[in-house]
Amino acid sequence: MLSKINKIILKKNKSKIICLTAYSKNFAEEIDKHADIILVGDSLGSVLYNYSTTRKVNLNNMIEHSKSARKGIKKSLMVVDMPYQTYRNKFEALKNARKVMKLTKCDAVKLEGGSKIKKVIEHLIKKNIPVMGHLGLLPQSTRGKFKFKGKNALEKKKIMRDSKLLEKLGVFSIVLECVETSLSKKITNSLKIPTIGIGSSIYCDGQVLVTDDLLGLNVTKIRFVKKFADMRKLINQGVKKFKLEVMSKKYPLNKHSY
Ligand code: KIV
Repeated sequence: MLSKINKIILKKNKSKIICLTAYSKNFAEEIDKHADIILVGDSLGSVLYNYSTTRKVNLNNMIEHSKSARKGIKKSLMVVDMPYQTYRNKFEALKNARKVMKLTKCDAVKLEGGSKIKKVIEHLIKKNIPVMGHLGLLPQSTRGKFKFKGKNALEKKKIMRDSKLLEKLGVFSIVLECVETSLSKKITNSLKIPTIGIGSSIYCDGQVLVTDDLLGLNVTKIRFVKKFADMRKLINQGVKKFKLEVMSKKYPLNKHSY
């Protein structure tokens, strides 16, 4: 039987890969019906905790949210982000990745970076930890404003080279974040493993978004985010209705009481 990871790889050039974030059970349960990959991303730092940077997210944050999300995931491949400073060398990375895999029962971990973390990725894969790569804009390494990547020939060459390296090391897929269109197309066409784009054009094999962004829960003006629903409106409608019925003594009725 094909593993979940092989099924994702086989989608390349056949069908787009749907990847979304989830940080808790209820969201994961609904997203699981539609996604191929559910990512417990360290974006939870800004989305849930209002942190200014994902660098403030720690391993415990990731593990607790992943344990919750796991309870809602039946079919999708579950990937968990390794947070900042949890993979500074191959020994630290293995210890932490094993802990994440064991406690959250996820299928894979995601690490940000290319040649800089070559030894770490190599070691994890050698020790049977499935790894998803992440290139382009790397929030854990970025201070200040986020800018797209692949602006000049040098940057393009480096990201291209890193993508080839990650494939060679054995990652099963690579997230390309904010990578210039012609470059993400070139990378996608030259790799056998799928690319998952976020702000990296239509040419990637799949797309990922932060679920709170696409649902309109997170108020953001990021160029690549499209609002596919207005959850804030729905929350307001529901809460307002509850308030009205409590105030007018329409709720709770006998059927809601013991
Ligand atoms: O942390 C995250 O949610 C991510 C995605 C945006 C790719 O890494």
